[in-house]
Amino acid sequence: MPIRSLGYLRWETPQAEDWRTFATDVLGLMPVAGPEAGALYFRWDERPYRLVVVPSERKQVTIGFEVRDDLELEETAARLEEAGVKAAMGGEEEAADRLVSGFLRFEDPSGAPVEVFHAPILDHLPVQTPLVSGFVTGEMGMGHVVVGSGDVPAAVDFYRGTLGFRLRNTMRIDMGGPAKTPMYFLGCNPRHHTLGLIGIPFPGHLVHFMVEAASLDDVGRALDRCTDAGVPLAMSLGRHTNDHMVSFYCVTPDGAMVEFGWGGLHVDEATETTYEITKVSFWGHRPPKRG
Ligand SMILES: [Fe+2]
Repeated sequence: MPIRSLGYLRWETPQAEDWRTFATDVLGLMPVAGPEAGALYFRWDERPYRLVVVPSERKQVTIGFEVRDDLELEETAARLEEAGVKAAMGGEEEAADRLVSGFLRFEDPSGAPVEVFHAPILDHLPVQTPLVSGFVTGEMGMGHVVVGSGDVPAAVDFYRGTLGFRLRNTMRIDMGGPAKTPMYFLGCNPRHHTLGLIGIPFPGHLVHFMVEAASLDDVGRALDRCTDAGVPLAMSLGRHTNDHMVSFYCVTPDGAMVEFGWGGLHVDEATETTYEITKVSFWGHRPPKRG
């Protein structure tokens, strides 16, 4: 069971400066200093950071998954080799920039850049997020990500077979094309899903990431901040059918989405079974009306 949780996101973007205001004043994350020159580090729990925004000419998001320790990192390297996935161990300086003790990098079958790390280096300073009462993380990690994939079944096999994720549920989405678009939700801890894979024509592209706040009021206040700051919404407030999250989606400065939610389901791995959903939400999550 190598992967324990989603640990961090490394967000390379030409819009880094806009991210500073968006992450701090809209999402309510805590900006902190970090080792990498020019990079913006953001905290929302006891970890030294969960998001690092790196100024870059290209836009690319690397997904950082956490394993228990150095032995599990070695086990992951062996499993990747067995699966024929080319992986490389990160250098010392790169590990220092990430504030971790060691990491592996590779591309998943969708082409998404992935890092697997162990042993974050803690600074023991209290986290302060004055705009948000708290975030739900701990053993469930920083939240979840949804990634576009050119070959969803291959990606699902890889995450289940090689990295130890569990299938939580599936969906076939009618996106207007001749065939329905497959979507799979996978978990690796009690959070309902840590990874969503959707068959859209942007393989490797991060569609959204989710942060879970501690109260419904936190979601309402974040929604108010989006309105006040003129941050566009991608989907209105709603409640998802699979993880029961009450959330809204807003647009990041570089055109991806953040889901800001509360009330996500915790799965009991001893008794869970999988299922297919036919609706994304019980209510809400409507795209904005255009024109
Ligand atoms: Fe989501």
